[in-house]
Parts: sequence; structure tokens; C-alpha cells
Amino acid sequence: SAAWTGGERGELRLGGIGVRELAAEFGTPVYVLDEEEFLARCALWREALPDGEVHYGGKAFLCPEVVRWLDSAGLCLDVCTGGELAVAVAGGMDPARVVFHGNNKSAAELRRAVALGVGCVVVDSFTEIERLTTLAEEAGIRQRVMIRVTPGVSAHTHEFIATGGDDSKFGFSLNAGLAAEAVRRVLAAPALELAGLHSHIGSQITDLGGFALAARRMSAFLLDSEREHGVTIPKLDLGGGLGIVHRPGDPVPPSPAEVVAALREAVPARVRLAVEPGRSIAGPTTVALYEVGTVKDIPGVGRYVSVDGGMSDNPRPAMYGAAYTAVVASRASQAPPREATVVGRHCESGDVLVRDLPLPADVRPGDLLAVPASGAYQRSMASNYNHVTRPPVIAVRDGSARVIVRRETEDDLLRLYT
Ligand code: LLP
Repeated sequence: SAAWTGGERGELRLGGIGVRELAAEFGTPVYVLDEEEFLARCALWREALPDGEVHYGGKAFLCPEVVRWLDSAGLCLDVCTGGELAVAVAGGMDPARVVFHGNNKSAAELRRAVALGVGCVVVDSFTEIERLTTLAEEAGIRQRVMIRVTPGVSAHTHEFIATGGDDSKFGFSLNAGLAAEAVRRVLAAPALELAGLHSHIGSQITDLGGFALAARRMSAFLLDSEREHGVTIPKLDLGGGLGIVHRPGDPVPPSPAEVVAALREAVPARVRLAVEPGRSIAGPTTVALYEVGTVKDIPGVGRYVSVDGGMSDNPRPAMYGAAYTAVVASRASQAPPREATVVGRHCESGDVLVRDLPLPADVRPGDLLAVPASGAYQRSMASNYNHVTRPPVIAVRDGSARVIVRRETEDDLLRLYT
């Protein structure tokens, strides 16, 4: 719950606390996460799919406290590395409710997943089918698996985050016949139980067409496979990918209910539906706060406003050309707008957070800038480039604030070195 106090906007309050108080207590840069918003977004998905499964895509943002929220909201968790699996365990999630993804899980990661009793492993290659078969046999268990299929749907999104095309590194191509072969091999392995088929076509998707097309192709493939082998395949997991709004005027994505309705229409009623939303849950919950350090005017060129973070805490503008907005959040201003480029503190010119942004002309050192919709793929993709320490995540709710990820310290960094 974000709200402005005072005239002409005044100070921004998050979860009932003013940003100046938050910055004074926790420092900047800082990610401020609205806990109730996170839970409300979990509930939206949960309610959209009461008879199915909602696996939160942990890659968007994960820490033990988030795992506890997911648990309380009745969501399962999708992890794609041993590290994410360790956080799931640390947060107390029952491993049976964890789905394990990844195109190159190591033998050690798979062994640990099997030992922990991970609910489902999404197999991604023939090598992995063999590897997992051996490990499950050794452990004397039958491991439930889904088969990741690339259904040949290219989502309208940045090429680095589109994953459903035939040329993807992920999964088994439907069009090239590899998916059918994967079904054959899994069914031939007594140590594996085919729990379902999986696809994920991409991320930051704002129209329903791609989801519906993937659902139709995957349903047809499921029915073909059942017919060919005389088996029942109980589940179809159609992945995540629903986009969010970053700036006023961005395309408004459909709601979780609308996405589920589009999927449900294409999928036979008896097939259990699963989804894996990440960004659409975590993204809108969080505001990134920065402090302005310098304002530089270059005659004939423009204005640079430098903040105390940058590409290390938000690599998305540099990596994907992602467009954000920012507002002065610490005070009211009557000054007219003036265009500025908001840049970070890193030693390269590509370290731009927001281009051509109208900010009050009197923006000055000490002002706090707020960047909304900063909850997904920002803290989780943050780096230590230039030996900066990664910012903390503060959960706010009903006027109180608590650290759920603490700020890194220079000692944390120095500890790595011999
Ligand atoms: N399931 C699978 C198998 C995935 O690969 C992903 C995301 C998700 C679910 C969650 O998707 P979401 O609902 O969050 O779109 N770093 C990029 C996004 C990469 C997404 C990777 N896979 C970015 O910052 O835009």
C-alpha cells in the first residue's frame, strides 16, 4: 500500500511508513516490499486456480521469509538450482511441494533433490532422464517427473527471456519430435513416474494469445501421448510469464483469472492445471529507494541524476532494455518538470536506470528517488560489480518494517578472499 502525504504529492509512504524514515533506518539503496501486497497477489493466483497448483517461480525473488508466505498462502515453489532448493528448505517448505527445474542440473543437485523427496523434477534432456533414472534406482524410489516441452510458441517479449521456441536451450522440441521421444523414454523407465507435461513460453508477456496457443498445443500433445501409450497423464504445467506494469501507460496485462480462463479453455477438464507465476506476484510488491548523490547539467546535452545504486541492484535496463520510471519520493516540489537521465554509480556508461525522465527541475542531492515495480529479478539478479554490497529487502506492513534480507557488508565480500 503506497500513498502520498501532503500537498503536491509530498512524501511517499510505504506500508504506512514514510520513505525518509525507512531510508534513515535501513540506508539506501533499499528494496521496500509490501508484505500484504505479496500475499494478496498469491491469493489472486490461488483463487484463480482453486482446483490446480500454483508454483511460485522462485527465481523472481526468494528468501526464507517469502517461502513462509508461500506456505501460508497455499502455494508451491518452483526452484531451478540447488541454491534455490536450499532456501526452500531453510524456509521450511515441504520438499514434496517443490518442483525442480533447470536445463543442466548437476548430478549432485539431482541426488539431493531425490534424497529430500522433491515432489517433481522437470526433466529437460535425454541425459538427465538417464541420470535421474540411475539416481532414483540407487535410492530405491520412484521419482515423479514432468517433461519440459518447447511448444514452438514465440512470446512477444525480449529474445533473452523468450523460451518457448524450437531453438530454445530448454526442454524437448515438440515440432522436432523430441518431446514424443522423451515421453517414450520416461514411460520406459520404471524408476520414473510421468506426472505431467510442462511448458513455459517466456516472461513479461502482456497478451493472452501466446498462453492460449501453448495451452492448445500442449493439450493436443498430451492427448496424442496418452493415446499412443495407453496411459493417463494427469497434469499440464503451463509455466509462468505474466507481465507487469512498470510505467504509467505500459500495456496492462491480463489478470491471473483471465490467464487461467484462457488456459482452462484449451485444456481438457480432467487434466490438472499448474502455473508458475514469478514476476506477477513479486514484481509489483516492491519499491526500490535510492538517494540522489549528484545532479550534473551538460549544456546542450542534458541532465544526469546519479543515485547510490545502479546496474548491480537492477541489471534489467542494461540487460533487456527494460523501461522503468522513478519519482522524487521524499518531498513535495512545485518546480516544473525537467528531463533527466537517472544513472547509477558504476564505472560504465551503460549503467542507466531510467532514460529521459521528467523529474522536478529542483531535484537535488539528498532527495530520495523511488522506482516502483522493483520486486522481481532485481534483488535476485543483483551483483557485487565494483565490489558494491547488495541492498537489503525490508518488508513493511501496518506501519512496521523488518529486514527479511539484510544488507551485505564489506566483510561479507572480503570473507571470500584467500
Ligand atoms: N517457470 C519457468 C520454468 C521459468 O523459466 C520462469 C522464468 C518462470 C516460471 C517464472 O516466470 P515469470 O512469471 O516470472 O515471468 N530475468 C528475466 C526473466 C527471466 C525469466 C526466467 N524464467 C527478467 O528480468 O526479465
